[in-house]
Amino acid sequence: MSEQETRPEQSSKWQTTIDTVFPNQTNPLGTLFGGRVLELMDVNASIACLRYCRLPVVTASTEPIDFRNPIFVGEIIELRSKVVWTGRTSMIVRSEVYGENPLSGERRLCTIGHLNFVALKDGKPTPVPSIKIETEEEQVFWDEACKVRENIKARRK
Ligand SMILES: CC(C)(COP(=O)(O)OP(=O)(O)OC[C@H]1O[C@@H](n2cnc3c(N)ncnc32)[C@H](O)[C@@H]1OP(=O)(O)O)[C@@H](O)C(=O)NCCC(=O)NCCS
Repeated sequence: MSEQETRPEQSSKWQTTIDTVFPNQTNPLGTLFGGRVLELMDVNASIACLRYCRLPVVTASTEPIDFRNPIFVGEIIELRSKVVWTGRTSMIVRSEVYGENPLSGERRLCTIGHLNFVALKDGKPTPVPSIKIETEEEQVFWDEACKVRENIKARRK
């Protein structure tokens, strides 16, 4: 039996972070600086991985991340991330960022993408639990992550 087959199966949960946009985090247009969005996504996604595998993790790659809408100064930012695919030692996380007008409550999906993390033991990649797909939505996310994985593999050839 392969190592993949002997690894335990595990459910995956969304991890949420709430923040707000201060003026010193904006670009000259008064909207949230893209680098700050990436930082927030990286931290939120790494927490999703840490809680999933309970091992130290490193970011191995950021996969296509689309900035669909700006987030304005003073708005509430809500990030949610979830492990949606697992390999032997790596995990692909789906990460979504919403902007919310604090006065009207209007909420928009602003940024969406995937990040890839690797679990480490003694500084080396180590196996993670195999993800359990339990819902139709998780199946859709898995299928999307498989395409991300194909791109990673093609790049690493
Ligand atoms: C990511 C890292 C641990 C991979 O180490 P490695 O010795 O190349 O690992 P391997 O070739 O054994 O691959 C291990 C896993 O990582 C994945 N991986 C390796 N390099 C990758 C990359 N550039 N992008 C995406 N995934 C990658 C492999 O696909 C494999 O996944 P699998 O086990 O699920 O099949 C190593 O490159 C590293 O430490 N990079 C620096 C990480 C870092 O500093 N991040 C920023 C701060 S957190």
